[in-house]
Amino acid sequence: MEHYPVMKEYVVQYLNLKDGGIYIDATCGYGGHSRYILETNSNIFLYGLDKDEDAIRYASKALAVFKNFKAIHSGYEDMDRVLEKEGIEKVDGVLMDLGFSINQIKDSERGFSFQIEGPLDMRYDRRNELTAGEIINRWGRRDLIWIFENYGEINRATKIVDAIIERRKKKKFDTTTELADFLTKYCRRQGKIHPATKFFMALRITVNNEIEILKEGLKKAVLFLKTHGRLIVISFHSLEDRTVKHFFRNNQQLKCITKKPVLPDIEEVIINPESRSAKMRVCEKV
Ligand SMILES: C[S@@+](CC[C@H](N)C(=O)[O-])C[C@H]1O[C@@H](n2cnc3c(N)ncnc32)[C@H](O)[C@@H]1O
Repeated sequence: MEHYPVMKEYVVQYLNLKDGGIYIDATCGYGGHSRYILETNSNIFLYGLDKDEDAIRYASKALAVFKNFKAIHSGYEDMDRVLEKEGIEKVDGVLMDLGFSINQIKDSERGFSFQIEGPLDMRYDRRNELTAGEIINRWGRRDLIWIFENYGEINRATKIVDAIIERRKKKKFDTTTELADFLTKYCRRQGKIHPATKFFMALRITVNNEIEILKEGLKKAVLFLKTHGRLIVISFHSLEDRTVKHFFRNNQQLKCITKKPVLPDIEEVIINPESRSAKMRVCEKV
């Protein structure tokens, strides 16, 4: 199954592609947005970055016909090193489509899904050491409460964390479904949302240090944008969106192009329900 590039028409429209321009798809994944950008304008150069080596390998092959594309295994927070190595001083636009791809969530070995049995991993970049298993089985009470309340936005996580600690004394959590079943037993379902959803989100954000890395990536993107260069960020939960909104508003070098976040059209949500929580914000360097 291929990842469906969210709001791809808006992405291309807001990127304002210029002939001869250099652009960065900072979260290239399996290349959905990159392909659409390259098909829209063949007179640009596009770099695709991703932390996930499998994704980069796939995108390199899938987009090999485009000689004006290069996929690079790197986090966007290391954009400076990538651009220096490529001999590029400034770029015309950067796209950041945050979170994980459908390919990652469907791959049982990656451990992102609470519905598919797999190891408690959740790393985008498997060169990093910290996994979800390490956090859930070894981290202390206070840290677990903090990540679930702050990154999972769970009200009062104390009781469930105490239950997790009791349980892991007897047997550690080995798989995603084992943890999800345990959480289901202890937490009430809120509407349509599965009780494990927010816990898994908190673990994923922690494993990948997503909020701090997002702040770092936004700073680097602005640093390398040309005047009038555009930065587009698509986020999927309130914590990410808040981080982006504050960053755009508080940065004197940026002018917000989208006063309110752009949302996918209803037609897109019907075709791709995963897009329903997407919010896109765009700014321009002044
Ligand atoms: C929503 S997917 C992108 C999908 C892509 N836009 C497409 O249309 O196919 C997000 C991607 O960001 C990658 N990612 C997460 N954190 C990253 C980081 N700090 N730097 C680079 N890539 C990152 C993930 O590995 C994942 O492949």
